[in-house]
Amino acid sequence: KKIASAAIRGAKDVYQEAREELDQALEEYDSGAKVEFPNTAYFLPVYYSMTGTEIDTVGGLKTVLDDVEQLLPEEPSDELWTPYLGHTLDAGMATLFADEVIEGLKYVEEPIPYHMEENCPPEGDDFWLGAANDNMFRKRGLEFVDGSAPGFAAIVGAAPDNETAVDIAKELQEKNLYVFMSGSNPEGVSFAEQLREEGVQMGWDTRLVPFGKDITATVFALGFASRVAMAFGGVEPGDYRRNLTYNKNRTYAFVLALDEVDDRKYAQAAGAINFGFPTVADTDIPEILPTGICTYEHVVAMPKQTDEEDIHDEIVQKAIEVRGLKVEIDEVPVPVSYGPAFEGQIIRKEDVHVEFGGQRTPSFEYLRMFDDSDAVEDGKVTLEGPDVDDVEPGTQLPLGIVVDVYGRDMQEDFEPVMERMIHTYFNQASGIWHNGQRDINWIRISQEAVAEGFTIEHIGDVLHARLHQEYGAVADKIQVRLYTEEEKVLEKQELAREAYSERDDRIREMTDEEVDTFYSCVLCQSFAPDHVCIITPERSGLCGGYTWLDAKANYEIIPSGPNQPVKKGECLDEVSGKWRGVNEYLEEASRGNLTEFSAYSMMDAPMTSCGCFECIATLVPTANGVMIVPREFDGMTPAGMTFSTMAGQVGGGVQTPGFIGISKLYITSDKFISADGGHPRIVWMPKTLKQDVGELLNKKVEEKHGIENFTEMIADEEIATKEEEVVEFLQEVGHPALELEPMM
Ligand code: SF4
Ligand code: NI
Ligand code: NI
Repeated sequence: KKIASAAIRGAKDVYQEAREELDQALEEYDSGAKVEFPNTAYFLPVYYSMTGTEIDTVGGLKTVLDDVEQLLPEEPSDELWTPYLGHTLDAGMATLFADEVIEGLKYVEEPIPYHMEENCPPEGDDFWLGAANDNMFRKRGLEFVDGSAPGFAAIVGAAPDNETAVDIAKELQEKNLYVFMSGSNPEGVSFAEQLREEGVQMGWDTRLVPFGKDITATVFALGFASRVAMAFGGVEPGDYRRNLTYNKNRTYAFVLALDEVDDRKYAQAAGAINFGFPTVADTDIPEILPTGICTYEHVVAMPKQTDEEDIHDEIVQKAIEVRGLKVEIDEVPVPVSYGPAFEGQIIRKEDVHVEFGGQRTPSFEYLRMFDDSDAVEDGKVTLEGPDVDDVEPGTQLPLGIVVDVYGRDMQEDFEPVMERMIHTYFNQASGIWHNGQRDINWIRISQEAVAEGFTIEHIGDVLHARLHQEYGAVADKIQVRLYTEEEKVLEKQELAREAYSERDDRIREMTDEEVDTFYSCVLCQSFAPDHVCIITPERSGLCGGYTWLDAKANYEIIPSGPNQPVKKGECLDEVSGKWRGVNEYLEEASRGNLTEFSAYSMMDAPMTSCGCFECIATLVPTANGVMIVPREFDGMTPAGMTFSTMAGQVGGGVQTPGFIGISKLYITSDKFISADGGHPRIVWMPKTLKQDVGELLNKKVEEKHGIENFTEMIADEEIATKEEEVVEFLQEVGHPALELEPMM
């Protein structure tokens, strides 16, 4: 049995099924009935990326299957050996198209047989996630582009036992890979179910993504790869050549076929070969060996092992070698798994060994610099007070974390930037969970981590290793002092609090006028090629991640990084906030696509948006004002659109008057659309946002405009969801926007 014949048989099989299901669907539904994966602009993504054709109805699926028929090759005889892969590749692509028809039809069913969330629910059988929506995909796809996830392993079938499944999953997570799961073995057992039985957390957050139990769900992995190419690689729909080359060169992915590989699985493997993704199997299967047209094997069986050796201990390493992936992982000397894949782990209350903070015990984290080299002993970690062995599982302890940094090039402005990384560094340790910052942090260490040997002192080792790795340019020496005695914690906390408030005053009191240099951020150009953020003291980056001080610190730490100084130069318009230097920089950084920005207006040459804005501010024309919608709000807005619909329409680095993406911090800035009338323009925002910014906003508006409790004049989702209702409400309360001059 040659692989070509198996793949072609499998492809025909999947095609037959797709035909039958489609015929049935056409009897049941109108041919105009919608077929769509949830919230995506990429239709059936593999088919769309290969052909450029937008399929969104049941009737449209006929076109897809007609193409499949064209692609399906005659079955070559078993004797025939062709080094040429053409037939196998065609059969593989035909399979993926047919997969998408079958999976697409599942989204017509009611209820949809997938749990349509980002993560699996904690309990129940309904945990298969199906296709990722564009929101999830954008966030994760970016990790593929910036290298924080080099690629993915698509696992089909099942491991010989649950324990092996857990080991393989963990090994892949440690290599920072995403694990996409589909299909089952001949006994109907699937890899994802094995993990599930062992209580492993699955979902996009832990990078363990169960797509579907049918083998056709494998196509979601290739659909994901195709969307990455289109969204981040600038590949046009229909440009199949570039899509396949992009993925071959940039996405490190492979298929792990566990347990028996039947014809249908061969067919999926053949589909993956088109993208340059090889398959490695744990069973003895026919292989395609390297030939003149290829540089590596496509389908590989693991070499025979002796009785004592288990193939499954080697299979991940083998797959990584076959795919040519170089995984370089900086060692963090702790006894638990470490890497970004563990960032999404949650630690449930009953699994806690010890927890700190979370409003229950005093807890804080504080990073400070020393001018005196002798004051800091590199690598030293001290703990005053009880450690994990001294307390019973489920204990709450106070915790003070003081990180002392010395470096010749270290500056006070870097302190908050580095301190904020503690959150990420802790969460990347398996079994450690961190939330919040400063003196409102909350940390949990799991019983499992403690069983593996993790102690409170290891917290210090994590910080020492990670800060050196990422801030080696400015931090020469790092030492960590830990306190778990209440009295000590309270004492040190006072010091930290003084520092926090000094820092806050520093940025809050800064004005755009007092500096002659702003900073740019072009981090998001990897997927919005013309987008540029200009960060000023009074307008932080729209993602909320970068204030002017942060950008300045980043630039000084990594001078060739994404934040560059931008000299303001001559002021062209004080009111709208235009400067010659900014415009010149902009023209260059956007490759001539943008020529001017105003920092304080959303109507006249507004700043562009990439896609990561914390909030969208947009015009409500009849109310003569603006509404502000934060990302976490998923309800309907008076503009007749949800956040995600609006986000899909703008962004991408295009200047859109009447629309801006902003950070939450900017809402309470004195420069908030000050050229367009400022705060009195705000007519609608959801309740949660009122809670977030209300206090400061009320204070600002009272100071500047003499209006008390301004947020009470702003409509929210409980008051109005339609534009007319907003206007009615504004009239009732005498909202100041009605008196302002027209915005348009
Ligand atoms: Fe940088 Fe702006 Fe992207 Fe934030 S949104 S990362 S500030 S380019
Ligand atoms: Ni090849
Ligand atoms: Ni962005």
